Amino acid sequence: MKESTKAKKTIRTQVNEMRLAFPARSVNERAARSAVAAFISVLDPTLSELSDVKCAVSEAVTNCIVHAYRDTPGKGDIYINVRIFDDHTVKITVRDKGCGIENVEEAKTPLYTTDPEGERSGMGFAVMESFTDKLTVLSKVGKGTTVKMEKRLGVEPDEIKKTDGKS
Ligand SMILES: Nc1ncnc2c1ncn2[C@@H]1O[C@H](COP(=O)(O)OP(=O)(O)OP(=O)(O)O)[C@@H](O)[C@H]1O
Ligand SMILES: [Mg+2]
Repeated sequence: MKESTKAKKTIRTQVNEMRLAFPARSVNERAARSAVAAFISVLDPTLSELSDVKCAVSEAVTNCIVHAYRDTPGKGDIYINVRIFDDHTVKITVRDKGCGIENVEEAKTPLYTTDPEGERSGMGFAVMESFTDKLTVLSKVGKGTTVKMEKRLGVEPDEIKKTDGKS
């Protein structure tokens, strides 16, 4: 019999969502990573999982602050979307409407940076990749960049469903 080569598609249901938008200023980086950590804490993540997510979000947000709006510092917004699914997966999107990235694969290469003179080490994407289960980077020059990260955490999110409509 011929074996099916089709990959099994994971079916999961979204149980909660948070949307954030704020100016791309370094003063907001801490608030961004703390807000994401607070939102996903309902899943009761381990300290290590929480630290991984905070690091990954911090790198993505810092990139928006440092690179996306480099031609118009202090202008432009960052948009964060966090979704929690019933299989304990958390999907985080960090988006900007900045300059975009010409070659995403090159940008993702460890130690690659367009700012070698500054304090940059070119490890941001490598950190995002290693601290999450899946990283996708979509970018269009002149339009902006979207970084999608996915991580499955340890505990039942049924509590979220149970508290719906209750305080
Ligand atoms: N949101 C973005 N908009 C425009 N360019 C970006 C964005 N994010 C990353 N880049 C480009 O991709 C390169 C690699 O990003 P990465 O985060 O890996 O390293 P880095 O920011 O240069 O250094 P580090 O994160 O270690 O401080 C950056 O130098 C920059 O040119
Ligand atoms: Mg970076």
